[in-house]
Amino acid sequence: MKHFLAVSDLSSAEVQELLDISVKFKEEYFKKGNAPYFKGKVLGMIFQKPSLRTRVSFDMAMRHCGGDALYLSPNEIGLGKRESIADIARVLSGYVHALMARTFDHNHVLELAKWSEIPVINGLSDYNHPCQAIGDALTIQEKFGKAKGLNVAYVGDGNNVTVSLLHVCSKLGWNFTIASPEGYDITPKAIEIANEISKETGSKFNFLRDPHEAVKGANVIYTDTWTSMGQEEEAAKREKVFPPYQVNAKLVGEADKDAIIMHCLPAHRNHELTDDVADGPQSVIFPQAHNRLHAQKAVLARLFGVA
Ligand code: CP
Ligand code: NVA
Repeated sequence: MKHFLAVSDLSSAEVQELLDISVKFKEEYFKKGNAPYFKGKVLGMIFQKPSLRTRVSFDMAMRHCGGDALYLSPNEIGLGKRESIADIARVLSGYVHALMARTFDHNHVLELAKWSEIPVINGLSDYNHPCQAIGDALTIQEKFGKAKGLNVAYVGDGNNVTVSLLHVCSKLGWNFTIASPEGYDITPKAIEIANEISKETGSKFNFLRDPHEAVKGANVIYTDTWTSMGQEEEAAKREKVFPPYQVNAKLVGEADKDAIIMHCLPAHRNHELTDDVADGPQSVIFPQAHNRLHAQKAVLARLFGVA
């Protein structure tokens, strides 16, 4: 693994390996604290958008393992504005040991990786969110084990989080159903990639409009914001389109009775997810957020060559 840019870049075995390493890091962390696997290493963190989970979990992942992290705000480095991405990548390659970047344009993460002499991690772009997907798969696996054929239902906007979730499900042999309104579908490119992966793993997909049909028999119901970062000017329009896709008690009642409720967070409560569901017995949204920490330790360990 040279960079970590998309779940679809990894083989199924590599995805499962990352999950197994995550479990080891998590167990060790809670037993006696992690050993200093990343001693002397610094992660540079480039953010073009806000973040709570990604920023703090990467910073803590480095510190727990004896390393350090450096936050670089949008205004400080002016990715592609104050300086070209190619130059930034080559300069930082001499200062830090890996880069994590959250960009608007997916091509900007690819450009960083192209020029960087050190590993680059995609911390969310407009196309995908692979770090989220590994943490999510860890959460699903903790609940249901490694069995193939689980039914994951995503309800809402076919966005960056959806793409990585679809791809991680494809890699692990889980079935994926999405219900999204017309005009807010997952990209054809992402579907094509998933179809290719499923030839090996046997995952089945359903791309629907009706959220009620989508959650039938679901083991997991997943949702995300109706308006992603960078789409703020569409927010009013989206608020009109998406209400039928709200994950509320009625919709949850139509899924498997043991279904878990997931959201990458930040949640817009009582928009895409109602309070009673977010804080109800089936919700795993906080353990899911916490698993980002353990999953990212695994990603870093693979990129640093220490696992
Ligand atoms: N889920 C997630 O990536 O959260 P942040 O935007 O807070 O990092
Ligand atoms: N789809 C959301 C995810 C945030 C973690 C966004 O891009 O804003």
